[in-house]
Amino acid sequence: MDLCSSSKGAVEMEPDAPVYVGKEDDIKKSQRITTKVNDREVVIFYHEGKFYAMDACCYHAGGPLRLGEIEDINGQPCIICPWHKYKITLETGEGLYQAINPMEPSPTPRWRSKGVKQRIHKVTIDNGNVYVSPPDLSVSLASDYYADKCKNNGDFTMEK
Ligand code: FES
Repeated sequence: MDLCSSSKGAVEMEPDAPVYVGKEDDIKKSQRITTKVNDREVVIFYHEGKFYAMDACCYHAGGPLRLGEIEDINGQPCIICPWHKYKITLETGEGLYQAINPMEPSPTPRWRSKGVKQRIHKVTIDNGNVYVSPPDLSVSLASDYYADKCKNNGDFTMEK
């Protein structure tokens, strides 16, 4: 945790310091929470022993990813957006889709990546506390548009 003290003794957060989002045990129990990290709505998932964090509003049209189901697709845990069923990998934020190659002798649908579409955030656990690092916004991603639009729409409560 990067905290710094001013000369008057008050504790201030550095702008890019990891942000406390909750107790490890609480998030494990609820399996997902939404919260704000530097004024950005973020959803944190606990899935099969691992924490993941990403922008809470889907890159496609702003759907609420906190309400999606998690499925294993091609060996990768993915959140399925409840609005139009887009599949997003929890680990990398890639959009996945199925495609066939008509040139194959017997065309079979295969999963392919559209590239990173949803901004993911680094999660750190320290002494039973969970922190999310603010994003590096030097590269823009598709979900940034809805991250701005969705700023005031979350309910930020624990839910399963
Ligand atoms: Fe998420 Fe359309 S808004 S799939």
